[in-house]
This record gives sequence, C-alpha cells and structure tokens, in this order.
Amino acid sequence: MRRALFLGMAAALAAAAAAQPPSPERKAATEADYRATLARLGIVSVRPGADGYNRNAPNAVNYDEAKAGMASPLPELLRSAGGRPVTSAAAWRRVRRPELVALFDHEVYGRVPATAPKIHWVLAATDRRAKAGIPVVTDHYRGRAGGGRVAIELDVTLPAAARGPVPVVMELGFPEGFHSPGFNPPPKAGPDWMEQVVARGWGYAILVPSTIQPDDGAGLNEGVIGLASAGRPRAADAWGALRAWAWGASRALDRLTADRRVDGSRVAIEGLSRYGKAALVTMAYDRRFSIGFIGSSGAGGAKLLRRDFGERVENLAASGEYHWFAPNFIRYAGPRRTADLPVDAHDLIALAAPRPLFIGAGNVREDGWVDPRGSFEAARAASPAWHLLGALGLVGESFPAIGETRDAGRLAFREHEGGHTNGPNWPAFLAFAARMWGLLPGH
Ligand code: GCU
Repeated sequence: MRRALFLGMAAALAAAAAAQPPSPERKAATEADYRATLARLGIVSVRPGADGYNRNAPNAVNYDEAKAGMASPLPELLRSAGGRPVTSAAAWRRVRRPELVALFDHEVYGRVPATAPKIHWVLAATDRRAKAGIPVVTDHYRGRAGGGRVAIELDVTLPAAARGPVPVVMELGFPEGFHSPGFNPPPKAGPDWMEQVVARGWGYAILVPSTIQPDDGAGLNEGVIGLASAGRPRAADAWGALRAWAWGASRALDRLTADRRVDGSRVAIEGLSRYGKAALVTMAYDRRFSIGFIGSSGAGGAKLLRRDFGERVENLAASGEYHWFAPNFIRYAGPRRTADLPVDAHDLIALAAPRPLFIGAGNVREDGWVDPRGSFEAARAASPAWHLLGALGLVGESFPAIGETRDAGRLAFREHEGGHTNGPNWPAFLAFAARMWGLLPGH
C-alpha cells in the first residue's frame, strides 16, 4: 500500500508540476495572501489536511474502504432550503436549481463579479496540417482583456473538409504538444484523444486555464480575478480559480458558437484533475455545454467531500489550493466542519442534469487520492435530478468493476485500469458522446 500511496500522489503531483514551479517570491506572496484571507475571515486556525506521505501521522490519508465513513448524511438533493420536497421538473428549475447555484456561489466556488472583463477574441494565426491522416485547420485565438493584461489561449482545430457544422470537444488543459521541461512523454500507444476526435469527423478545442487565471494564491492579483477586483482583496464570496476557469470556458464557447463551422448544440467540455473539477463547474453553471467528461476530479470536483477517503476539505482549504475556491470555503476547515457544508458533490453533479455527463477516474490502487468510489456514490446520489427531469441518471446500484463502462443512462461512470490520466477513458467517453448526440456510425 505504501508504494501505491506514493504512486498515487506522484501521479497527482505530476499533472500539477506541468506548470512552472513557483519562485520563492511567488510562494511568499501566496502565503501572505492566504494569511490575509484568513484574517479577513476571522479564522484563527485551520485543521491540517490528509497526509498522503506519512501513514503513521495522526492525520494520515485514509485509503481503507472499511474506514471510509461519511462525516454526516448528505444534504437532501430534492428538498428546498425551506424544507419542502421538490417533486416536479418545474420546481427543480424554478426553486431548487437556483438555490443550489446560490449555495455554490456563496460557500464553495464563489460568484462571478459584475466587473468581470469583456473578452475580445483575436485570431492570432491559422495553420493547416493533417491529424490522424485527415486535413485539419487550426485557429489560434487570444482572448484579450485589460489592454493585454489577460490573453487567454484558445486553439480550435476543425476538419478542413467538413460538409456542415461539426461537434467540438473542448479540453481545459495544456496546449497541444506541450510537456514540461525534462519530462519525456511515454511512447505512443494508439491514437491520442485529438486523433480519436478527428477520426470521428469532429473538431477539438484546447483552452489553457492558466492564461485565464494563474494557478496560485499569488496570482489572485492577476488574471481575470485580479483584473475584475482592481487591487481590492477578494470578498468572502468572490470567485476562485475554478469558477474563473469555468467562466473562461463559457467565453471560449461564445467564440465557438459564433463560428458557422461549429455545431454549437454539440460542444463537450473535458478536463483532468483540477481541470476535471473546472470542467464539472463549467457543466454546472453553463447549460449551453451539451456534455461533460469529468476526469479524476476528486475532492472539489465529483467526489463526495463527506466521505473520508483520499483528499479532504482541509487539503483544499490549505495555502496550495484555497485559491481554487471562494474565501468562504476555507471556513469548513475551521471553525466549521465538513459535515456543516450545505452542499456536496452530488448537488454539483445534479446541476448538469438532464444533460449527459461522463465521470471517470483511474484505478483506486494507483490513484486513491481522487477517491473513484466517492465520485460513483456522488453520481448515484445525483441521479434523482435526472429522473425528475424525465431522463435516466446513473443506471445500476453496485460499484462497477475496473474497466466496466456504466453508461446505460445519461450519467456515466468508468474507473479505468490506468492512473491519474484520462487516456484509457477516451474511447468510452467518445462512444457515449456519439450515442448521446445521436451520431451513431452509419447515421
Ligand atoms: C493535487 C490536488 C488535487 C488536484 C491535483 C491536480 O493532487 O490535491 O486536488 O486535483 O493536484 O490537479 O493535479
């Protein structure tokens, strides 16, 4: 287990390390902002997160299913704040959904301020090449704001010879071909996700989240959050990086839907790890995205926070990750408890209903940190929202075997045989998307 534990952490950290390691000055600026944020909230101390490195620590991470207790029962999905049962699609849309959005805004991801900048998309370059043997055109956009203080990177690759508008899979991730210095990508085994997408006759887009909002506390004075707050400290319910990244995905969708070559009713959003969290937040907030692929998103994403397995609220609320959330969220790591959260991951997933959503993770032995089962349980608990809206949610009660695709409903789950990657789940997701979009082979 020790090795598995180490491997899981290493894989998780590898994705994070793809960004440049922060300089000592930047680290110090993050710590200073964190302390100032705690002071503004009146928080004197926060509890430590799960320790993934030292199994003898009092706060050692739990990877034992038998000890994976729930901090408290889940908040009821279909009961409004006033205590009334939510029994119709109309009540979901008019009462419960807005209520949940308000709770996530205020307590978890933060609110987009009225001062959020307008993004001007500029076409910087276009190139033509072949991908998977198919001629494609790539448009390189920059989404500018604040006189160039923000320049969002978006690359859109479409088949050159399409006969009509094509579906597009948008990834929150790193630019095509990017890998961090010194990292040698493993030899290629089969077509990558972009080749798989193009082979179906679809297009893909890559949006680079760190160009929307930098990924650390020091960066809260920069990016769209910094631009919108104009030097003022973040309000307790102001947006964090996850909400900003999701907002950026919406701005990228504005660009895509203005492109006649794109089928705006068939745009997917996908991401891994922290970008998997952001992809889920995107699906929750922007109903124009027609389907989501949420990969290894873990705590703060599709995993139930109340379930003690892998990463905990206290890790998310520490100085390395608090910037993903509204300042208010830190309060659940002290003085409040996880059990006090008015929402959990099932509520976030339910905000995607009745649209199709595919939730994936690597196998628990290699990537227990993200708690694959915690995502499955969250999806199960979110299913009644699909039913209420007249669709099938997650079908099947039992936890699926590794490699089994549970996709009979519109909420799908798959734990793949690999680690902290979306790689092995791509074929299953794309088959699911094709079916959900009514684009079966031969049609
Ligand atoms: C860390 C973090 C996770 C996050 C991951 C990543 O492991 O604890 O919450 O998802 O980094 O994005 O790589």
